[in-house]
Amino acid sequence: MKQLSVPILSIEKIAKATYQIDMRLEKDHLEKIKPGQFIHIRVNQGSEFMLRRPISVADVDLKLNKLSVIFKVFGRGTEQLTQLKANDLIDLIVPCGNGYPIETINYNHALLIGGGVGVPPLYYLAKSLVARGVKVTTIIGFQTKEEIFYLDKFSELGEVFVTTNDGSYGTQGYVTEILKQEDLNFDYYFSCGPAPMLKAVKNYLHYFPGYISLEERMGCGIGACYACVVKTEDGKAQKKICTDGPVFQANEVMI
Ligand code: FES
Repeated sequence: MKQLSVPILSIEKIAKATYQIDMRLEKDHLEKIKPGQFIHIRVNQGSEFMLRRPISVADVDLKLNKLSVIFKVFGRGTEQLTQLKANDLIDLIVPCGNGYPIETINYNHALLIGGGVGVPPLYYLAKSLVARGVKVTTIIGFQTKEEIFYLDKFSELGEVFVTTNDGSYGTQGYVTEILKQEDLNFDYYFSCGPAPMLKAVKNYLHYFPGYISLEERMGCGIGACYACVVKTEDGKAQKKICTDGPVFQANEVMI
C-alpha cells in the first residue's frame, strides 16, 4: 500500500447521483492493483472530512496511466467529492483489500453479478477475465433506469442482462430473476452488491463455486472501527471485511 497525491483527470456524473473520477497514476502503482481491491480517498484537508472513504476500483488503464472509481452520493463526504475538479490533487492509499484471486482459479466461463454500487468493481474484473481468455456473462441490477451505467462497456466484453426493481429497463425485479429465467452456463461466479442481494445470490447458486465482495459494509476501511466484522460460516471466527476482504469465497462467511 502506498499513500499518493495524484491529479484528477476528470470527474463526470454518469447516472443518477453516480459519479466517476478518473485520476492519473504511475504505471508501477497501477500494475499492483487487482480487480476487487479498493482505494482509500481522503475527502479533503479540513477537519470535518478527515475520515477517508473506501471506494472500489472500477477500471485501470495502463496505456493512459489512469485509475477510475465510481461512487454514489449518499452523505456529506461523498457530496464533497463531487466538488473536485480536473487538475485538483487527491490524496489516496492504494491498493487496499485482497481482490478477486483470478489467477488461481481454473475456469472457462465466469458469471458476474452486480447490484447498484457493487457494479463498478465488476467492470475491471470483467476486463481482466476477458484478457485472460475467460468468457464472461454479466448480470447488473439497479433500482431504476436512471441509475444504470456501464451497460455499453459490459456489452463489449460479453452477454449482459439488466434488471431494474421498478421494471423501467430490462427485466423487472432483482438480479436473481435472471438466474431463475435464463439457463446460464458458467463454471464460476463473482458477485458484488448489497448484502441482501449477495445472500440471495449465494443461496440460489449454492452448488456453484464463487466469490463475493462485501465492500458495501465497510466503514473506516483500515481495520480501526470494527463496523465491518463478519462471522465465518462455521461461526468460530471473525473476519474484517476491510483487511481480510472485501472478497471472500461464497461459503467462507455469513452474510
Ligand atoms: Fe473499519 Fe473494517 S471498516 S474496521
